[in-house]
Amino acid sequence: MNNKIVSNEDVKYIWHPCTQMKDHEIIPIIPIKKAYGVYLEDFEGNVYIDGISSWWVNNLGHCNPYITKKIKKQLDNLEHVIFAGFTHKSAVQLSKKLVEITPDGLNKVFFADNGSSGIEVALKLCFHYFRNIGENRPNFVSLKNSYHGETLGALSISDTGLYKDVYSDILIKTLQVKNPVNQDEDEALEAIKDLENLLKTSHKTICAFIVEPLVQCAGGMNMYHPIYLAKAKELCEQYGIFFIADEIAVGFGRTGSMFACESANISPDIMLLSKGLTGGYLPLCAVMLTDKIYNAFYCDYVSGKNFLHSHSYTGNPLCCTAALATIKYFDKFDIIKKNQRKIKQISKELKRLRHLQNVRSIRQTGMIAVVELEGYNPENRIGLKLNQYCLKKGLLIRPLGNVVYFMPPFTITKNEIRKSFDILYEAIESI
Ligand SMILES: Cc1ncc(COP(=O)(O)O)c(C=O)c1O
Repeated sequence: MNNKIVSNEDVKYIWHPCTQMKDHEIIPIIPIKKAYGVYLEDFEGNVYIDGISSWWVNNLGHCNPYITKKIKKQLDNLEHVIFAGFTHKSAVQLSKKLVEITPDGLNKVFFADNGSSGIEVALKLCFHYFRNIGENRPNFVSLKNSYHGETLGALSISDTGLYKDVYSDILIKTLQVKNPVNQDEDEALEAIKDLENLLKTSHKTICAFIVEPLVQCAGGMNMYHPIYLAKAKELCEQYGIFFIADEIAVGFGRTGSMFACESANISPDIMLLSKGLTGGYLPLCAVMLTDKIYNAFYCDYVSGKNFLHSHSYTGNPLCCTAALATIKYFDKFDIIKKNQRKIKQISKELKRLRHLQNVRSIRQTGMIAVVELEGYNPENRIGLKLNQYCLKKGLLIRPLGNVVYFMPPFTITKNEIRKSFDILYEAIESI
């Protein structure tokens, strides 16, 4: 086997996500043979530093021996079991651990299969909660420029036109409020007024407010001040609506602390965890929720009151084992503490890029570093050019338009950080 054979067979049969397949008439798809640490290796022995943790999931390095070992052991005993009427040890241990490590009050876990399906669970739970207490509140509020996934409910509360606009006729109506567009405190305080005004007039029709804490990732890695989260939580409490923290992309250490909500010292009513939850091994989402929500569904069987939501693979034992191993790895190897040094190094490296002529600005939150370039227009496909340049040099990045970001696995070393930024420097300079 070589790269060419696998690539040719691939495009004959497969439709890849978020991809214009015609691009692969001129750009070969890269087949990966194996992966280890921060590296992806193709069939010809070329290696690429995974500078985006394979779509922000692989926080602890590829084929991490600790996680692999735990999954292999689980595989010999129980690969899957129906999760209604049955349970298993990994799900129980994982749930207990998640309740322990997430903010206070999140005492129950509902499992879904991936980020978007977890979002559907959260939306349905909030709407259904109010039904169960005798109120009809059909509206959801989210931020402008938000992204919560691509199933219809998740798209409906998102505000990224690129993914959403074409489907507008078949989406549910939702409300968007101003998002803070930079990391200044004043900007956050200004933006919060929009949420306040909306809740003042319409809170009786709204069941929940959903937010990506600290960083709107797919929305161009827009970073904002934590005071926005603290104020928004206060408002949700004041007006009696649920606060949903979508930590699918930012949870599990990405912003510097285990969960981004910690930066504002808040406990949401629902917290969504996925991506990094399993260390990038297997798809799983944990929808963490409060007793208040759980209790509104806990009753004798009454038609319409029960939460009859299920996915075939809910609580899959291999996924739960991967998640449990991931959490233990964080503890055992003191990942959050060790990351602080890496965050500082990334910050230094990022500053080197600021002086390039075509760099408009730089920003960083924890283990997410961003360079925003001048001169964007969708037709010049600057992101694709940078992606291709970096791949040739051994680094995988996937810019969002003119926003180049670096979001590596936390196991990255000092030399690998340095090498990645050397490549980025060259690539941006060359454009
Ligand atoms: C904040 C956020 N929410 C939800 C999702 C959807 O998750 P998934 O891709 O697993 O459906 C994503 C995916 O990027 C995300 O970034």
